[in-house]
Amino acid sequence: MTMTMPEIERALRQLRLPGIRDTLQTRVLQAQGTNQPFLETFSLILQDEIDRRQSRLIERRYQQSGLEEKLTLAEFDWSFNPKLPRQACFQLLTLTFIAAGENALLIGKPGTGKSHVAKAIAYQAVIQGHKVQYLEADDFFNRHLLSPAPQREARLRSVIDADLLVLDDLFLARSIPDEAGALLQTLIHQRYKLHRSVVVTSNRVVQDWGTYLRDNTMSTTILDRLMHRCHLLEFEGRSYRLKEAAEALARQATSK
Ligand SMILES: Nc1ncnc2c1ncn2[C@@H]1O[C@H](COP(=O)(O)OP(=O)(O)OP(=O)(O)O)[C@@H](O)[C@H]1O
Ligand SMILES: [Mg+2]
Repeated sequence: MTMTMPEIERALRQLRLPGIRDTLQTRVLQAQGTNQPFLETFSLILQDEIDRRQSRLIERRYQQSGLEEKLTLAEFDWSFNPKLPRQACFQLLTLTFIAAGENALLIGKPGTGKSHVAKAIAYQAVIQGHKVQYLEADDFFNRHLLSPAPQREARLRSVIDADLLVLDDLFLARSIPDEAGALLQTLIHQRYKLHRSVVVTSNRVVQDWGTYLRDNTMSTTILDRLMHRCHLLEFEGRSYRLKEAAEALARQATSK
């Protein structure tokens, strides 16, 4: 017996096929209008469900990643700082470094786009279906050290288990607490053992990390693992933040 449209919709709800439910009316009209062969219509309908699940998964991965904006390199102005390692940034954006278990260290002057590039890579990894953890380093250390032990354990697991970890703005607050140094070492060590990629951005040169950690041995331990299979990108140039601030000031001055 043929089902009515409301019955089909109810069945699709029962079977949890919202992707098919959303497009069914259109697919039926399309098939009738073009005399589409049944198998062609059926595969389009199946694809609708697959597409819907895929986009829901990506949205969930994005929510879990800790990213707060969907940045890409499309809006990046490469002419502003012509010495930036543009090719290496796009190479990272292909994400082959994740499959190879390699790391990336983006080091250089403030406001030159290190965090922007790291966030764009992280977002691209989310779109490609990877589990990503994006952490603002200081914020993560502070929160982590204040949270209760069982919560800490679970959080640490999710950070170690992710396919890609981004530690943004490391050592922004010149020195970090001793426990944070130990935490950083654990994270890097665990991920190194598992061949899982880490992207670190910092405006502090690696030669000074020992000072910020107040422990040269710990610094060597961390850098040794980070830099073993690593893309080292140097960001030389002027601050885009200052450029934007100067432009805002100029606008204010002309509007007076
Ligand atoms: N070349 C650029 N084109 C467009 N926007 C840029 C460019 N460089 C930086 N920006 C923007 O300027 C702001 C500062 O950049 P970002 O936070 O990436 O700098 P950073 O190198 O991480 O600095 P810091 O060392 O202080 O953390 C961001 O809003 C970023 O999107
Ligand atoms: Mg930054």
